[in-house]
Parts: sequence; C-alpha cells; structure tokens
Amino acid sequence: MTTVLRLDLPDEAATQTLGGALATVLPRVARPVFVTLEGDLGAGKTTLARALLRALGVTGAVRSPTYTLVESYQTTVGEVHHLDWYRLAGAEEVEALDFRGLRAAPLVLVEWPGRVPAVASTADLVIELVAAGAGRGAMLHALTDTGQGIVGGLAKIFEDKPITPSFS
Ligand SMILES: Nc1ncnc2c1ncn2[C@@H]1O[C@H](COP(=O)(O)OP(=O)(O)OP(=O)(O)O)[C@@H](O)[C@H]1O
Ligand SMILES: [Mg+2]
Repeated sequence: MTTVLRLDLPDEAATQTLGGALATVLPRVARPVFVTLEGDLGAGKTTLARALLRALGVTGAVRSPTYTLVESYQTTVGEVHHLDWYRLAGAEEVEALDFRGLRAAPLVLVEWPGRVPAVASTADLVIELVAAGAGRGAMLHALTDTGQGIVGGLAKIFEDKPITPSFS
C-alpha cells in the first residue's frame, strides 16, 4: 500500500513552502530518509531541494548536481546528499558513486531516480512534480513507514488538502 498526498503548487513560492514544510517534518521521523524527486526537465525538483536545504540551515550556494552528480551539505539533521542522475548511463555508475555509502546519510535526495529503477524503488518517499497550467502539482507517495510519517506530517500541515490512500 502506498499513501498519496496531492498538493497544488501554483507558483515557485508554493514549491518553496513545501520544501520548508518537509524540513519541519523530517526531524520527527526515523532516519536515514531516501527521497526521490521525479518530474520533467524544469518541473521544480532542484527548486524544492534548494528550499528544503535552506530550511535545514544551509546558507551557502545550493547548486544543481546535474554535472557533479552529488552535492553534499551539513544541515540541522546531519549530512545531506543531493544527487541528480540525469546524466547517468546506468547502474554501474551508481556503484562507482558508492550510492550505498551515501545512502547511510540522514537524508538523501535524488533527482531523475528513474535512471536506476532498482535503486529508485527503495525510496522512502517519492515526490512527483507535474506541470499544471503555469504552476505545478505535487504527488507524494510514501513507500515505507518513514515515508508514511513524512506524508502524515505534511498532511497535517496542509490539512485543507485532500489525502487519498490508493491501493496498488
Ligand atoms: N510551483 C511552481 N510553479 C511555477 N514555476 C515553478 C514552480 N516551482 C518551480 N518553478 C520554476 O520552475 C523552474 C524549475 O527549475 P528547476 O531547476 O527547479 O527544475 P528541475 O526539475 O530541477 O529541472 P532539471 O530536470 O533540469 O533538473 C524554475 O524556474 C522555478 O522557478
Ligand atoms: Mg534539477
């Protein structure tokens, strides 16, 4: 069973609000936490990651890891790794990155997780961003108890929004 929370993100500020809300909930759930960020080019994955990292106390630049593959930060919840697999050819490169080692950090964020489906399927939380007019829609899928804890916390924060359990 996965729990799905749908949120409307009419503008960039709303995406940043979601990042801030995630930062409020994360300290309350069991870690490590593995979050994947799905969506087309320009969907807002890095925008969301950046807002989350800022809310976790990162004051320096938060760059897209598109070319470096991984950017790491010290935050209020400990070390966070932000990865982007857009340019990855496949699973061997993930091995080379030592993803298993990175995965032990309190929080790991991966953009373009679908490049390595076997790893993507082990996420605690999948955040899917889709275009909706000039804005975006977010769908959050909890795949583990940790993910459920995050989705439940967010549902309370955004309690006027519908939370729809789906069985698949
Ligand atoms: N809710 C929103 N509504 C409208 N625009 C948004 C919203 N959230 C983010 N944006 C804008 O969309 C763009 C998203 O860029 P961003 O780099 O975050 O996308 P991305 O998903 O990381 O892309 P890539 O796949 O290239 O890494 C930015 O210009 C940002 O201002
Ligand atoms: Mg990006």
